[in-house]
Amino acid sequence: MPKYANSQPVGFKNAIERVAIVGAGGTVGSHITAALLATGKHKVKALTRKDSSNKLPEGVLVAPIDYDDEATIVAALKGQQFFIITMAPTAPRETHSKLVQAAAKAGVPYVMPNGYGGDIDNIKLGEETLLGPVAKANRDEIERLNMQWITVCCGFWYDYSLAGGEARFGFDFDRRSLTIYDDGNTKNSVSTLSQVGRGVAKVLSLKELPDDENDKSLTLFGFLGKGVYIKSFVVRQNDIFESVKRVTGTTDVDWAITHETTKKRYEDGLAQVKSANMAGFSKMLYARAFYPDDPNDISAKAQNKLLCLPNESLDESTKAGIDMVKALQHRVDRMAA
Ligand SMILES: NC(=O)c1ccc[n+]([C@@H]2O[C@H](COP(=O)([O-])OP(=O)(O)OC[C@H]3O[C@@H](n4cnc5c(N)ncnc54)[C@H](OP(=O)(O)O)[C@@H]3O)[C@@H](O)[C@H]2O)c1
Repeated sequence: MPKYANSQPVGFKNAIERVAIVGAGGTVGSHITAALLATGKHKVKALTRKDSSNKLPEGVLVAPIDYDDEATIVAALKGQQFFIITMAPTAPRETHSKLVQAAAKAGVPYVMPNGYGGDIDNIKLGEETLLGPVAKANRDEIERLNMQWITVCCGFWYDYSLAGGEARFGFDFDRRSLTIYDDGNTKNSVSTLSQVGRGVAKVLSLKELPDDENDKSLTLFGFLGKGVYIKSFVVRQNDIFESVKRVTGTTDVDWAITHETTKKRYEDGLAQVKSANMAGFSKMLYARAFYPDDPNDISAKAQNKLLCLPNESLDESTKAGIDMVKALQHRVDRMAA
């Protein structure tokens, strides 16, 4: 049912001002938080484990929570209009559900669940990477609890994936080696972490509701129950390699190059995951996304223009990725999963 601002109770303000987030100090959450704060339109409350050592950005309201004490999460979420979850993939599976249940009890209307990946409508890709059914269950739980969701479909994070070791985009910067999947010519649409941050901030800075039935402008309401599709680039591994060489001032002879088929990498990675060796997960995930006949390319659905997102420089983003290598190497558990 369409809802309009002009039929809301007196005092209704047609904007999302109070935003809660889990992971404000995390990989993507820090970029989302920075972009939200930069708009000057939002008060951002960071829900964080009471014993967390993660550094939170300045300018957020800090709400320590205890996942074993629901009342702390409900209290932190009371009065919030929008709840963004950027939860570590290594967190216990039930953690997301604890947050969503607490949000319902606190009366939060809208939740952005964990996701930040491929096209939610590509069911086959979702199933074969094992991520789709988990994300769908998260969205279904939000609906069951009478809240509404908006999820982000952004493809791989370009800078993070470039920096994250051989299992991701094939690059090992310490060894100066590259594994090329198939012929290296399969395209993926990818987003920088900062573009994801900007995209989320744009959506949350829209009017919440149309003013009335004649108001056809873009609103947050129009995104409910859907993906927000974002991209920075559509790239082949070979394009990434060309950019890496430009940025590092290297040539082919400086790199040890091997080739492997995506099919073999996918099967090897999946076999590892099935034997509880999560080191195979990224290998399986990225190989599958680079399947030539069904790549992770959401560019046809990208809403960059609609959201007025800027064009970015591939080489600057490559440099940002290379600058992340050391930081990611310190996150040993995370990178191995
Ligand atoms: N598209 C891509 O390329 C890509 C890549 C990686 C991940 N993703 C997606 O993005 C989501 C967020 O990933 P991220 O890398 O941003 O996460 P992250 O930085 O690893 O973690 C985010 C937050 O999770 C909290 N956390 C960590 N361990 C926890 C635990 N054991 N129990 C409860 N909370 C815990 C921490 O918050 P506090 O310390 O403040 O409590 C942390 O800041 C992932 O789940 C995945 O769906 C997408």
